[in-house]
Amino acid sequence: MIGRLNHVAIAVPDLDAAAASYRDTLGAKVGAPQDEPDHGVTVIFIELPNTKIELLYPLGDDSPIRGFLDKNPAGGIHHICYEVDDILAARDKLLDTGARVLGSGEPKIGAHGKPVLFLHPKDFQGTLVELEQV
Ligand code: CO
Repeated sequence: MIGRLNHVAIAVPDLDAAAASYRDTLGAKVGAPQDEPDHGVTVIFIELPNTKIELLYPLGDDSPIRGFLDKNPAGGIHHICYEVDDILAARDKLLDTGARVLGSGEPKIGAHGKPVLFLHPKDFQGTLVELEQV
């Protein structure tokens, strides 16, 4: 059902420092910060040859990233995103197996303008999983 790894998202306490470390130390192609108010994050996309890295920084007071950074003050991997062809079919199949879909269960439009869903970390080895329809 899942296809390519679309991105790995890393929550960071200092967006400028994280961007500098990917750009200057690791030599990656680092984009400009983008505010995503619907998701409570500011994002920097890093394009790698085979996938993307997203640096996430809290935006607004009820950002979903803030609690994660409180528990992980140095930052850390927040979620991984797999591609699917049909997000509603994927969701229904997951629900049939007893996996938990976060939120309303209806896809939201993600940072790339495509429908996304998040799956409960306790069902996937402690990792928050995002599905994105491509
Ligand atoms: Co993501």
